[in-house]
Amino acid sequence: MRVKTGVLYKQAYKKFAVGAYNISSLEQLHGLFRGAHKSGAPIIVALSKVARDYANPEILASMMDAADKIYPDVIYAVHLDHGNEELCYNAITSGDYTSVMIDASQASFEENIAISKRVVDKAHEKGIPVEAELGILAGIEDDMAIDKKNALLTDPDQAVEFVERTGCDSLALAIGTSHGAYKFSGKSKLHLERLKEIQGKLPGFPIVLHGSSAIPETEILRINAAGGKMKSTSGVDAGELREAIQLGVCKVNIGTDGRLIWTRVHREFFKEKPDQFDFSMPGKIYMKEYADFVEQKNEILGSAGQAQNLQSKL
Ligand code: G3H
Ligand code: ZN
Repeated sequence: MRVKTGVLYKQAYKKFAVGAYNISSLEQLHGLFRGAHKSGAPIIVALSKVARDYANPEILASMMDAADKIYPDVIYAVHLDHGNEELCYNAITSGDYTSVMIDASQASFEENIAISKRVVDKAHEKGIPVEAELGILAGIEDDMAIDKKNALLTDPDQAVEFVERTGCDSLALAIGTSHGAYKFSGKSKLHLERLKEIQGKLPGFPIVLHGSSAIPETEILRINAAGGKMKSTSGVDAGELREAIQLGVCKVNIGTDGRLIWTRVHREFFKEKPDQFDFSMPGKIYMKEYADFVEQKNEILGSAGQAQNLQSKL
């Protein structure tokens, strides 16, 4: 069942977080919905500009409609990830999305407010909730690369003013995570004290954590053993994620982990079976592996088993 994100966040606040999984292929779609079904967890399907450019927005919309029929028990929202103003308006009018994100985080504070407010006004006319972003995450997301020295933690007082003036429904913060595979050179270190301060000033308001992939060492080792050349790195720790959930994080964004599994599955498959050329063979393995990953991640986020509780509230 397709729902708006508000109903998910209301149920989740300080109890669990909903996983927002970036997908762009039919294999990922099946894996994601299977994982959600098996763990009885609500999910957010995150569709970015790159996913739309790759798969085509119409194809993605049809895939979502098909998933709705194939997995009737899965409670999910369809979310535009890192939209600019134009993409947001496109998603709002398409009728295919139940949530949009406007990312004007690189603009000045005033400009970010002005852009986000325009999107909020348009989206709310259609009853669609809006996630906005304040602060700048380092790393690579889609075709945007932000250097570590240009990253900027979210300012707590600005966060309050931003939410008041834009009327956004949830806010993505910069508290030390970054996009892509190379997040921390050592151990995971989120600025939880900053998150706590912001949560204290915005009690009950849903907070979003981008750049939350775990980047498991085993994946990197297996990718490299099968011919890859990835640098050793670490991602966001499960314990820190759980602490963040207690501090108001209701949505946790995960994209890179799904790509790492894809890389590992395909590298290993073709290394072990160099005579094969059928895409459906590694594709089937990937669907299962991705489903297992989603199931495990939903356990960590505490969203596993929450679909049942939500059902009575819809
Ligand atoms: O919007 C997408 C996410 O923030 C992806 O984060 O790079 O940790 O997978 P990730
Ligand atoms: Zn992101």
